[in-house]
Amino acid sequence: MNQDKETLLQLEYMEKCRDLLMEKSITGSMPTFHIFTSGCQMNVLQSDSVTAWMEKMGCIRHDSEDADIIIYNTCTVRENANQKIYGHLGLMKNLKKKNPNMRIVIFGCMMQEPHVVEKIRKEYPFVDLVFGTHNIYKFPELFYRMETSGGQIIDIWKDTDEIVEGLPSSRKYFFKTGVNVMFGCNNFCSYCIVPYVRGREKSREPEAILEEIRGLVSDGVVEIMLLGQNVNSYGKTLAHPITFAQLLERIEEIEGLKRIRFMTSHPKDLSDELIEVMGKSKKICHHLHLPLQSGSSRILKEMNRRYDKEKYLELVRKIRAAVPDISLTTDIIVGFPGETEEDFQETLDVVRKADYDTAFTFIYSKRTGTPAASMPDQVPEDVVKDRFDRLLALVQEKGREISSRFTGTVKEVLVEEESKEPGIFTGRTEHNLLVHFPADKEMIGRFVPVYLKECKGFYYFGEMAKGQEA
Ligand code: SAH
Ligand code: SF4
Ligand code: F3S
Repeated sequence: MNQDKETLLQLEYMEKCRDLLMEKSITGSMPTFHIFTSGCQMNVLQSDSVTAWMEKMGCIRHDSEDADIIIYNTCTVRENANQKIYGHLGLMKNLKKKNPNMRIVIFGCMMQEPHVVEKIRKEYPFVDLVFGTHNIYKFPELFYRMETSGGQIIDIWKDTDEIVEGLPSSRKYFFKTGVNVMFGCNNFCSYCIVPYVRGREKSREPEAILEEIRGLVSDGVVEIMLLGQNVNSYGKTLAHPITFAQLLERIEEIEGLKRIRFMTSHPKDLSDELIEVMGKSKKICHHLHLPLQSGSSRILKEMNRRYDKEKYLELVRKIRAAVPDISLTTDIIVGFPGETEEDFQETLDVVRKADYDTAFTFIYSKRTGTPAASMPDQVPEDVVKDRFDRLLALVQEKGREISSRFTGTVKEVLVEEESKEPGIFTGRTEHNLLVHFPADKEMIGRFVPVYLKECKGFYYFGEMAKGQEA
């Protein structure tokens, strides 16, 4: 793979770190590390990259928190994620007292908020290294600074124009992975902190994406998930603009790649061209995550989403016309400032009409610095809770009904892993529906036809269809 000058520099730092860790080791064994990831798929991907660097340095991955180096990759999209991290750090304080050689590293979205960094500086001085979202590619260099300095290292950048290619990655499944197509977000939905902590929208060059995917496929990957906060606006900022639909068509040509997924689609940018490409494609999975946020056109306007209820339902109609068996999933926020019972009824109405397989429902969380945080009429907690419960009940009832539509059919399943129950494996259909069925370890990473016997709510129980393997 083509490696940037910056990546080569980081490889040098990686070697320096490895030598240093070996020198420091009294017992001769290399330190263990544990990485804790919260947030979205992008964080998962960036943790995969940090894991790869750590392994290249010779460190040993550990599944529990009693490791020598603890790394947190944080999310700040809702306040409860932050509280969890502070809880963890509180526990770490005692562990570190017992083991002063332990190192604690914390990075990611939460660190892009100045008040968080201030709190860590004051209340958690035992944290060794703090960095943000824009300088993750400098991990070996930052790690080296931590290992050679006595105090707390804090290095946060406001934004960056740079996209560094050719970084290593260590994926969880050998047969599927995420691939970033863009970074940052320019949408500024009024409740959302992501544009502030991830910076301006930047698309990767199509050639770099294609090259990465070709490399992954030759390494055994058959399914990819293209990632971006708003993949539908991919390519707009490139010197030679290309659309997301055109990118998908080029990815489709890669031989050996079997399934293409992507996330997240913003309804305001979901084009007819993309719907057409999805309709024609043999590889794009029949699943679309299309966040609604609210069914009330008035609230959508306040949220700065730039579509209304009618436009959203029209998109749903178009996509179902092009891909009739598509699975739709969504995100919904309850309790946005000023939301009335009438507005909430509009949300329930869309849930009734859109036929989602699943909806991820969130209670509105006030994020400092966003326009919504200073809006009047923040909805009282008990009202929000009541609406949330009613929404969840409807989402679950509808979800059960919609997801069971494949009962009694045979679908191709990509086998992922053994479930908690020995001998029972899990996998997904192209609709992203989870299937449990008896199989054996050799099937992992392969496509098998599975008879979907019974729908258990959010997953199917099935059995391998006799005969031909897909
Ligand atoms: N870029 C994606 C979403 C990223 S955040 C998109 O636009 O769809 C994932 C989800 O978190 C959002 O879809 C939204 O439903 C939820 N979310 C974001 N900010 C939130 C907040 N302040 N309170 C509650 N939920 C929020
Ligand atoms: Fe947040 Fe909106 Fe950007 Fe999604 S599109 S990350 S919700 S600002
Ligand atoms: Fe969270 Fe950052 Fe993703 S705030 S949702 S981890 S972009």
